[in-house]
Amino acid sequence: FVPPKESDSSDGAILAKDKLGHVIPASQILSEPVGTRALIAGLAGEPTYLTVKANGTLDDRGIVNNCTHLGCTFPWNGRDEQFQCPCHGSRYSPDGSVVRGPADRPLKLVRVRVEDNRIWIAPWTDIDPRTGAKPWWV
Ligand code: FES
Repeated sequence: FVPPKESDSSDGAILAKDKLGHVIPASQILSEPVGTRALIAGLAGEPTYLTVKANGTLDDRGIVNNCTHLGCTFPWNGRDEQFQCPCHGSRYSPDGSVVRGPADRPLKLVRVRVEDNRIWIAPWTDIDPRTGAKPWWV
């Protein structure tokens, strides 16, 4: 028996973990209500939001919780349907696009996939679907 490895996927993916370093089963997040933004520890430990979609799956875009202005972390405001940075007031739409500055770049994306109740987080290196251009972080 070879236990599943956690970090040698060919696309650089790692397993989503909680802040204590425990792997989070997909079922744990998918038991949350539709629209939940669940924070996990993603690539390089970066806190990353995963979204529970209306069809009961996880969005394949994870949003890194690191404001593109000066790097603060920020909460999701479900009433306004925005990520709202408390440091200088930047606001982002649900897909991480800038709604209001001073931030001038969209939030970094990561790729999310679920296999066998495990959540894999991989670098996003393709075109940024929000801008149609090469991602600023690549
Ligand atoms: Fe978020 Fe300045 S760090 S608005």
